Amino acid sequence: MKHILTLALCLFSLMISAQEQTDNRSRRHRPRPQMMAPTLDVEGHHVNAHGGCIIAHEGQWLWYGEARPDRGFTSLGVNLYTAPIDSLPADASHPLQRPWQPRGLVLSVVDEAGSPIERGCIIERPKVLWNAHTNLFVMIFHLELKGRGYEAAMTGFATSSTPEGPFIFHHAQRPNANTWPEDFSEANIQKAQALNEADYAKWWTPEWRVAVADGLLLKRDISRGQMSRDMTVFVDDDGTAWHIYSSEENLTLQAAELTSDYLGYTGRYYRIAAGGQNEAPCIFKRDGTYWLICSGCTGWDPNEARMFSARNIAGPWTQHPSPMRGPNAAKTFGGQGTWIWAAPSPSTDLFFMADIWFPRSLSQSRHLCLPIRFHDDGTPVIEKVQ
Ligand code: DGJ
Repeated sequence: MKHILTLALCLFSLMISAQEQTDNRSRRHRPRPQMMAPTLDVEGHHVNAHGGCIIAHEGQWLWYGEARPDRGFTSLGVNLYTAPIDSLPADASHPLQRPWQPRGLVLSVVDEAGSPIERGCIIERPKVLWNAHTNLFVMIFHLELKGRGYEAAMTGFATSSTPEGPFIFHHAQRPNANTWPEDFSEANIQKAQALNEADYAKWWTPEWRVAVADGLLLKRDISRGQMSRDMTVFVDDDGTAWHIYSSEENLTLQAAELTSDYLGYTGRYYRIAAGGQNEAPCIFKRDGTYWLICSGCTGWDPNEARMFSARNIAGPWTQHPSPMRGPNAAKTFGGQGTWIWAAPSPSTDLFFMADIWFPRSLSQSRHLCLPIRFHDDGTPVIEKVQ
């Protein structure tokens, strides 16, 4: 009898502890209560379009972004939401609150074994451009191959003749194999050629930092192509399109010119803030100055934004203090930049869009959207009052 009682007691406490674990787990998976409200589509679901972009097309806003699963880190593809451009947000302090119509997956991962976008891959930060030469919408994204973590560090390209897709996967590559940056002189190339990874086995030392800035990792990847992770795109006034991405193990940004069909690289590229460890690049141009807002590299955790400006995309780039102001500005209000949304409201030209990542359920990551205002000298400032 004593044994039966002990056994029953053990079973009961096991059940309680399992229940507690389930509760804890689901509590952990749920967005924290202090997190901002979801951005709802017209069906009442949170917009599952992360690391994305919003562009205007024929009277519609097109919001493309990462379609993330409720659990795990791999991708479903890219989702599209649309809203009429003349739909103003119900509440001006929440410019993203529009009647977003979910259009579903416009690029989908596939079940074909060996495909670069095989289910299990990671698709991040998709950006879409309309190409006037080919009459195609071109989607460019950071692609990581199935089962290889973040090692592949590739750029994926997909096209569609309509904004609603389906986008057809075109190819994936690393940018600019066998090509040195445009701003590398013969002397720079020789210096980089002489660098040997074995001499810098220990990372983060002062010598290693100098070697990285001199091109240690750039040279390591010269034949394979440059790593390309967090990214954005930018079409300049003269029609030249640029792909700006975290390269060299996320230590250096690169700006690479795209071919006129936006499906490859011309071979012209520049390094930005070599060794500065910047990611999540967002760019805009105002009165002839390019402004680049980035984050540091702390995975899904927020950090302080960094800002750079230049009069030429080729540089030189000057670093400025973070433009963020207000409570929690030092952590970019919990977010990480993804896009500069142009002309969303009659009163404000530019908005800074960011994701507040929720890695336990990436689909639930929140969207931040704040107006960019300017000091008299043209320096951007992004303030969140509450
Ligand atoms: C930070 C990046 O900005 C995100 O896009 C994502 O790649 C995470 N790192 C992964 O940790």
